Amino acid sequence: MKKYNNGEFRIKDIGKTYTVQGWVNKRRDMGGVIFVDLRDRSGFLQVVFNRGFLKTEFELAESLRNEFCIEVTGELIKREEDMINPKIPTGEVELMVHDLKILGEADPVPFNIYEDKEINETVALKYRYLDLRREYAQEKIILRSKITTAVREFLNRQDFLEIETPILCKSTPEGARDYIVPSRVTPGSFYALPQSPQIFKQLLMISGFEKYYQIAKCFRDEDLRADRQPEFTQIDLEMSFASSEDVMNLVEEMIKHVVKSTKNIELEKFPKMTWKDAMNKYGSDKPDTRFEMYLNDLTDILRDTQMNVFRNAIEKGGIAKCLIVKNNGDKYSRSDVDHMIDFVKIYGAKGMAWLKFDNDQFNGVIAKNLEDEKLEEMKNRFGISNNDLVLIVVDKPSVVYASLGALRLKIAEELGLIDKSKLNFLWVVDFPMFEYSEKEHRYKAMHHPFTMPKNIEELDQPEKALSDAYDIVLNGYELGGGSVRIHNPKMQRQVFEALGLSDEEIKNKFAFFIEAFKYGAPPHAGLAIGLERFTMLLGGTDNIKDVIAFPKTQSASDLMSEAPNRVSQEQLDELKIRLEESDE
Ligand code: AMO
Repeated sequence: MKKYNNGEFRIKDIGKTYTVQGWVNKRRDMGGVIFVDLRDRSGFLQVVFNRGFLKTEFELAESLRNEFCIEVTGELIKREEDMINPKIPTGEVELMVHDLKILGEADPVPFNIYEDKEINETVALKYRYLDLRREYAQEKIILRSKITTAVREFLNRQDFLEIETPILCKSTPEGARDYIVPSRVTPGSFYALPQSPQIFKQLLMISGFEKYYQIAKCFRDEDLRADRQPEFTQIDLEMSFASSEDVMNLVEEMIKHVVKSTKNIELEKFPKMTWKDAMNKYGSDKPDTRFEMYLNDLTDILRDTQMNVFRNAIEKGGIAKCLIVKNNGDKYSRSDVDHMIDFVKIYGAKGMAWLKFDNDQFNGVIAKNLEDEKLEEMKNRFGISNNDLVLIVVDKPSVVYASLGALRLKIAEELGLIDKSKLNFLWVVDFPMFEYSEKEHRYKAMHHPFTMPKNIEELDQPEKALSDAYDIVLNGYELGGGSVRIHNPKMQRQVFEALGLSDEEIKNKFAFFIEAFKYGAPPHAGLAIGLERFTMLLGGTDNIKDVIAFPKTQSASDLMSEAPNRVSQEQLDELKIRLEESDE
């Protein structure tokens, strides 16, 4: 076993003999002396082979190349004054080698491990085991391990039990597409991989375990993004006899413990914001509160304007909101604003009106068409001053929120308005119980169908009903979410009905689950945090792949092992699966 961390040798350790292992990070041959930076995950130590070495051994040292895995034994000495390197932690010492073993030779590697340089992602993923030798990659994986250790420390102390739940199971209710696995024993039947342990953790509450957690693998076949992978991990927990406040307090303490243990940062109390305020002010249910530039409402101002586009949209139930880019109007040319208009169209906006305020007057196309008193009212209400740019979207609320919410983030990034050193946690509460699916022409559960409504009477007004659900948000990312669950079968049935689920569907999907609630179900609540997102944000990266040892690409494949791949005809025959002829 490895006895010493190469990166931890200091002046206090000199004068003794050590045997250390590692990889040749870099090798410098100075004729009679060879220097090697011997790397392991703690850093590296300079090891020196010199003339004093036996001739054959020196020849062996001459054969060393980058990434050879070696073991050396030697005396740790203080470096000569002019050789001291204050930039590295082991820069004052070096190991004078008298014994060398080559443990593993290395072919030339496809990229230099020692260089702190961005590597082509396809190459990095194909050779991920080499990519993972790099400091940048290792520190993310080490952080992830520290986070799970701190989570376990905290929850075990709070008397939680870590319990594993099945991977081969029946479809779970998170709303993404399932990954399915064919059964050999029952041909034609399939397991689903869990989208989360939701159903099982609730059943564990019914079993009487009271406080459960799991670092749980989840699988969702959905379109991938920079913060989404098909296979990811949740810090999943559930508590009986607990209110939403209990869960939020516990999770807040857990997060504080993790951040203190891994980053040595003390966090303040997390603020709470209602979903409605978050949408109104930030256009997002996961607001980035590290900067201001809020969405301002001007529906009332534009309601009775002569400008038909605005008036008509508002008459049809639309709203009007604007962003005010303070004191940076000169940074945006006409064509920059045109690009912004194209950008908001991605989010469904039909267009975006704009105004610039300069030399104490408004400019821009609508400055000529909009009534003077409206312009004046805007100026006073929003404190518009010289060099401000005003960007207005009038549309359905969902489109206004999505487009201006996204534009707000884009502009802040461009103008450097975001203080990247901040960790702004907050709770978003009072979510709507349902959201309308334009595609399916029906209401769907915003969280999942086991979420407790805030007020059961509201269920017959689905657009108004709120749920006892909460999300934890960090720097504009949804870090986690949870809710108080329904534990009363009658209420559960009412919610299913409000969702338009037929008896047949309920029976097919959740019969065993509904049955369990007949036997003395305790009130319970819980939450799950995305471990990858948490690690990303604490590790200062916006790429989820960085925090997963062996991640998948955008098309959900593993470039290294080449999964998914075709299986043999025998395997298909055993499963009684016949593939359609493909054109290939
Ligand atoms: P939810 O679906 O909100 O809730 O998921 C919880 C958290 O999991 C993370 N997450 C993901 N991370 C990476 N890739 C993905 N594809 C992905 N999907 C989700 C997010 C998210 O906030 N069972 C409920 C929790 C509960 O009610 O207790 C659930 O799964 O960080």
